[in-house]
Amino acid sequence: MALATSDRGSWSSRTGFILAAAGSAVGLGNIWRFPYTAGENGGGAWVLIYLVFVLLIGIPVLLAELSIGRKTKLNPVGSFEALTKSKFWPWVGGLGVLTGFGILAFYAVVAGWTLAYVYEAVTGAFAGSISAEQSSAIFSNIISNPGLAILLTGLFLLLTILVVRGGVSKGIEKTTKVLMPLLVIILVILAFRSVTLPGGMAGLSYLFAPDFSKLTGTGIMTALGQALFSLSLGMGAMITYGSYFPDDANLPASGVQVAFFDTAIAVLAGIIIFPALFSAGVAPDGGAGLVFVVLPTIFGSLPAGNLFAIAFYALLAIAALTSTISLLEVCVSYFVDNRGWSREKAAWILGAVCFGLAIPSALANGASPFFSDFLGSGFDFLTIQNNLWGNFSLTIGAILICVFVGWIWGVDKALGSIESSGHSMAGKALFRILIRFVCPAAILAVLIFIVITGNFF
Ligand code: PFF
Repeated sequence: MALATSDRGSWSSRTGFILAAAGSAVGLGNIWRFPYTAGENGGGAWVLIYLVFVLLIGIPVLLAELSIGRKTKLNPVGSFEALTKSKFWPWVGGLGVLTGFGILAFYAVVAGWTLAYVYEAVTGAFAGSISAEQSSAIFSNIISNPGLAILLTGLFLLLTILVVRGGVSKGIEKTTKVLMPLLVIILVILAFRSVTLPGGMAGLSYLFAPDFSKLTGTGIMTALGQALFSLSLGMGAMITYGSYFPDDANLPASGVQVAFFDTAIAVLAGIIIFPALFSAGVAPDGGAGLVFVVLPTIFGSLPAGNLFAIAFYALLAIAALTSTISLLEVCVSYFVDNRGWSREKAAWILGAVCFGLAIPSALANGASPFFSDFLGSGFDFLTIQNNLWGNFSLTIGAILICVFVGWIWGVDKALGSIESSGHSMAGKALFRILIRFVCPAAILAVLIFIVITGNFF
């Protein structure tokens, strides 16, 4: 039986929700994962498919998750328990909680790297002009040092715990309110600098001119995974955030605004990375280190470049923090609602367990040969976790959420919850078709294709 305890909270306003949800959505997914995955998958055609997935699958699933959370005011497991008698659906919520944990256990590693970059920037490492080789050496020194990589991961998880234990509205809203606009300003300035670099235009055409011959089955899968990951969908984060949504606020408008904002930030990150990358002569398929290696090459060519570097990495770390908060929050809200734990206890225990699980990923980029080429698979442990939780698990979660809302709970009830504040939603008939037919069929087609071709990564 689900228990709602006084340790739950609520956003103080609709703006509070938008900020918090945008804080969850905007993070390393936009600035680190989007550019390097686009680069690995040939650019423009992949970006186009990603955008189509955001519109056709991301927005309907986002509204579906928010509608569940708003209705039940509970975490993902408690929500399914409250809406059905079936024993199966709460397990889907459980998968979401587990996925949140799985994502946090690799996300915190990359987030830890951003802390090292803040330190590098503060100590002047990006002050002068820097070549791609020098930048790459700085990156490998950080990620291949086992003690440092583990320490940075632990530090980031500690920051996450400290905010989550303070509760949703106090901790999360305040952090996002000031820093999100600052991040946008810095990104716009960097984008202007990058597109005006010599050779920058080639980067833009790589990002936007679709060449469908470069698109593979795995690419389509990762585009779907990226659309879900970037919007924090498929694991109940938006069920949890919807559960704190004020009763009188306009949910459809807020949801759509968050989706557009998140996608705009990813595209902006692409507009920064690809021109700089072509200008510095770096290969676009460099993998997880791409952003960390490319960006330092542009700071040196900006006036007061080192200050930019400090501000950028600090803001990136904070954007990552507002995302790790939502990942931990999903797990914490389950233990608070359903298990009667205090918020404090849940945050510390879950954060500590996650730290243990994150260590193999922290060692996966050169620090340990075993985790850097896991079981001789040719993939490092972090990449495997990224694909497993960040693509597959979210995809499976998303299809189940569509089936639940479209066929079990019912679209009318979901719409009732979406419109419960009296704000009506445009395109209800379209939403019905998308959530019942188009989204599940499209997601299933991608999954079947992957299983048949065996190209899992
Ligand atoms: N959306 C976040 C990002 O793009 O960085 C990552 C994320 C957060 C995924 C929360 C899933 C989630 F529930």
